Amino acid sequence: MSAIPFDPAQADRLPDDLAEAIDRARGRLSRVGAPIVYLPVTASTNDVAARLANAGAGDGTTVVADMQTAGRGRIGRAWFSPPGAGLYVSVVVRPKRAAPAPGGGTMPAVLPLPSRLTLLAGVALADAVRSTTGLPVEIKWPNDVVLAGRKLAGILAEASAQTFGIEYIILGLGINVRVAAYPPEIADRASSLEAELGRPADRGALFAALLGNLGRALDALDRDDVAPWFDRWRVLSPSARGATVEWRAPDGPRRGRTAGLDADGALLVASDRGRERVLAGEVFWL
Ligand code: BTN
Repeated sequence: MSAIPFDPAQADRLPDDLAEAIDRARGRLSRVGAPIVYLPVTASTNDVAARLANAGAGDGTTVVADMQTAGRGRIGRAWFSPPGAGLYVSVVVRPKRAAPAPGGGTMPAVLPLPSRLTLLAGVALADAVRSTTGLPVEIKWPNDVVLAGRKLAGILAEASAQTFGIEYIILGLGINVRVAAYPPEIADRASSLEAELGRPADRGALFAALLGNLGRALDALDRDDVAPWFDRWRVLSPSARGATVEWRAPDGPRRGRTAGLDADGALLVASDRGRERVLAGEVFWL
């Protein structure tokens, strides 16, 4: 992350389709989307949002870019972010509940706050896509938004932890909106809303619905009222039950069948060792 502070004066006016949708939705937006910083191009909106947060930006500050030159995904992957093809969004989240900083281990006993946040954000994102496009997208644990085996959107939450707990979380969301020429390594696993719809998607309506849903998700997280969101997550994630998966446990590779989401947000997997809880890391769907 660059140490050079981001100057919000470098930001451009929000494109018309996004600005008009946000204006129409203003009454329904709560804590996410004020202010919105728009950049035609940046390395990673998560980096810009982190710089703004370090400079004191408040909860709900939102950064959106038309293109990223170094977009990142989970587990050290790149996030393909060509110009005009997607929504690349990062939100500064300042949790109101005291929360422990994430532990160093790969299998913490309780799902850390950023992980709970990504589960709720997955619901917010999938339901925003569903309500504005009609596409019956699903969630693949923890929060990939998929349709017919292809990924349309993903979430990367990055926490700034202090000794007293989490100072802020940058919630990054990438949505493939327009048809794009994906790099060969992801071409058979990625798709876009418009490729699946076969017609243009209303990017502004999607952006506004996403910010509204995220506001409600953050409120639920602050109230520790996540159970209804986990219930909705279970409905949106049929692959969390009965699918064969492999994952890397601390003692080596493991294989089993998914058996739902527990009350802490861990993925349950039935294996030859009984019922195991997967809380972090990469799961491979076979
Ligand atoms: C994943 O599924 O691997 C997560 C992808 C997250 C991509 C978004 S795009 C906006 C924000 N900025 C980034 O560099 N990454 C996230």
